[in-house]
Amino acid sequence: KQLLVLNGPNLNRLGVREPDVYGNATLKDLEAMIQSFAERTGNKIECRQSNHEGVLIDWIHEADKTARGIVLNPGAFTHYSYAIRDAIASVSVPVVEVHISNVHTREPFRHHSVISPVTSGQIVGLGLHGYELALQALLEIKKEE
Ligand code: DQA
Repeated sequence: KQLLVLNGPNLNRLGVREPDVYGNATLKDLEAMIQSFAERTGNKIECRQSNHEGVLIDWIHEADKTARGIVLNPGAFTHYSYAIRDAIASVSVPVVEVHISNVHTREPFRHHSVISPVTSGQIVGLGLHGYELALQALLEIKKEE
């Protein structure tokens, strides 16, 4: 089974979007970095991005059968999507939440995640490297089980 990396709304704007917060690398750069991690570690990793809540929910459901772990950056849905939270609660595939920026140094509405209680863990504020750390964590979680 493969690992799945899901990026939510506005992450297709990486590189052009608020570069002072998110850096200059694009989503393509991020996905290339993830593919190089995949090759290095001998894993199959699929990357997807959607701006649509329902699409992300469908992918989470589907991954319960097809993936051994999900890295999820839900974008702003992090802070209010009970629907994405319930989708994660409905599957048994482990999910690690990633945020590129340090949400705790930003606006108060970003300090709370409604997703975290149903994830295996959260990686925050370490830039794009956070995705590799999350993938590494999923590989370890599977080893422990
Ligand atoms: C984000 C943080 C969210 O608050 C924001 O809405 C995003 C990106 C991050 O990766 O830092 O879209 O998830």
